[in-house]
Amino acid sequence: MSGSPNLDEALERLPKVELHCHVEGTMRATTVAELARANGVALPVADPTELYRYDSLTGFLEVFWLVQSVLATRDDWARLGYESAVDGAAHGLAYRESFFTPARHLAAGQRLGDVVAGLDEGLAAAEAETGVVVRLILDFDRDFGARAAEEQVDALVELRRAGAPGAERVIGVGYDSTEIGQEPGWYAEAFGRAGAAGLRRTAHQGEDSGPAAIAACVDLLGAERIDHGLSILADHDVTQRFVDEQIALTVCPSSNIRIANAFPTLADHVYPEMRSRGLLATLNTDDPSLTDLDLGLEYRNVATAFGWGWDQMVDIALDGVEACWLDPAAKAALRARTEAAREALRPGSRPQVGSDALRPDGPT
Ligand code: ADE
Ligand code: ZN
Repeated sequence: MSGSPNLDEALERLPKVELHCHVEGTMRATTVAELARANGVALPVADPTELYRYDSLTGFLEVFWLVQSVLATRDDWARLGYESAVDGAAHGLAYRESFFTPARHLAAGQRLGDVVAGLDEGLAAAEAETGVVVRLILDFDRDFGARAAEEQVDALVELRRAGAPGAERVIGVGYDSTEIGQEPGWYAEAFGRAGAAGLRRTAHQGEDSGPAAIAACVDLLGAERIDHGLSILADHDVTQRFVDEQIALTVCPSSNIRIANAFPTLADHVYPEMRSRGLLATLNTDDPSLTDLDLGLEYRNVATAFGWGWDQMVDIALDGVEACWLDPAAKAALRARTEAAREALRPGSRPQVGSDALRPDGPT
């Protein structure tokens, strides 16, 4: 808590953009348990939250993969998509570009078309109910290697060409999972094919690797954003380039404490330094259900840890709009909605009942 109930409530209601969130990492613990039971997946504990304690990215990924493994059918993906967006909307989410990482499901025999169609069905239902808007980013799991990534791009491009259900909702590609023992350049072919097909590109890097690997994502993969980018400040030139070109970082401060174990507490995080250096450093949750988090809470956590007030937090929300992949008109609308909320929700001022800024409709 920030100590200011007024600020806390305003941050919760502020329309927020999220650019770094894994849909599997939003799965409710109750859903993990129910799907595990329905699909015959053995969990080592009755309450999945007992597994959600990590001391490294590697340890976290073991749990993430277990959670992923409970998704067996198109209906499971639909349920996940629906609950993910409804839960986000409850904390002021306006627009999200959400990762899904289907490598292990495809290896187990699921079809990309079913995964995408299922997610699309659930997301569409949640959009109609809440006004939140969600687009998808197909993330390659580096644990499955570069050839698998290339096959996934080809399958996605084919789904889009065929007009398959939900394929248009997938607007970009990225990669995630372990960084150790990996080289960004191995994935140049997959990212190149994606770029040639008009897909946007982002890459998890700098969570467990240095600034040279971050720069390589831009140079070799055509990455337009970097997910985490935590190590960037260690290299002045790479940092300055990201400032000059306003290449966005999708930073997840609480995740970096709980998953990567990169800092002892939030107050030790480099997020303030990133922002004061002029980096386009956005604010995100990564895997909210697996870290006992939501986007409203992440805004409150950050405001408290760094002593930031309302206008600084609204500026962070606007940087999310700036870094997102909506078209210019939709971006302008979302920017205007955020600016209207800046005044309508300003802590200390009287709430403007019926204000447009509080309308829960989407940006498109
Ligand atoms: N998959 C889900 N969360 C991740 C993270 N923080 N880093 C890498 N891969 C992930
Ligand atoms: Zn992530």
